Amino acid sequence: MRKILVLGTGGTIAGTAASASDNVGYQAAQVGVQHLLQGVPALAGWQLQAEQVAQIDSKDMDFAVWVALAQRCAHWLAQEDVGGIVITHGTDTMEETAFFLQSVLAPSKPVVLTGAMRPSTSAAPDGPQNLADALAVAAAPGARGVCVVFAGTVHGPRDVAKAHNYRLDAFTSGDAGPLAHVEEGRLRQLREWSAGEALRTVDSLRPPADWPRVEIVLNHAGAGGSMVRASVADGVRGLVVAGTGNGTLHHALEDALLRAQEAGVAVRRTTRCAQGVVIETAQDKLQAVPLSPVKARIALILALMH
Ligand code: SIN
Repeated sequence: MRKILVLGTGGTIAGTAASASDNVGYQAAQVGVQHLLQGVPALAGWQLQAEQVAQIDSKDMDFAVWVALAQRCAHWLAQEDVGGIVITHGTDTMEETAFFLQSVLAPSKPVVLTGAMRPSTSAAPDGPQNLADALAVAAAPGARGVCVVFAGTVHGPRDVAKAHNYRLDAFTSGDAGPLAHVEEGRLRQLREWSAGEALRTVDSLRPPADWPRVEIVLNHAGAGGSMVRASVADGVRGLVVAGTGNGTLHHALEDALLRAQEAGVAVRRTTRCAQGVVIETAQDKLQAVPLSPVKARIALILALMH
């Protein structure tokens, strides 16, 4: 019998409110992952095992929880009788955790993140269906890599982003499109599963307190260099700039970033546009990265750990 590990980290899926009609005034991360599983029908021929790795609102996600989660995933993925992992997670930073885990695990088994937009006490919670769909993906033959399953859609770790603060179908894969849909527990696959090499191994991750600090700065009308200078004075090792359009920068911000780069700070250029990625040009003075700003930051942190 194959096993699916369900790792709990908190979020709205584990949230509670005082009233069943309240879908926004709730406390996230209150209900244990074992309890969440009680609302989901068991999969025929699969055994579920739950483990609480953290119990947080994902706005508070930090490097220590990421390291613990990556270590637990690596541990369970190495067990032959484990077919896949489901992670219950807050929606606010789910795309970052998905990208981080793919970057350090690149697993040949499925690691599926899911959550909810409504708390567990809601009159019509979305968590149980999302969890059931996530389990179906974790048990699906051929599934591999880290993905996010939400509102019946399977998103890859590179493209997934939270695009709405309230709707139940809160995630998008942008113009890349989703990997698959889950319909009545069955997968309708549209694209290949995420594959490729890990950027780093879990064992090579430094202790959370030693992770290089990388900040994100934003281009906008009237942007200047003060945030960059403050970050450099504060000892950052890297800066990711979310530029306008194709990663364009106000000249004052660009000047400050070039000075930071000369001083040894690693600088990466992305776009603040919700869709598309920066396209490099021959005139680039700052390296462009074809990732969203938050994911470019994770890639740079992992690169700077060397
Ligand atoms: C969180 O990200 O932990 C709270 C919000 C959510 O899960 O939707």
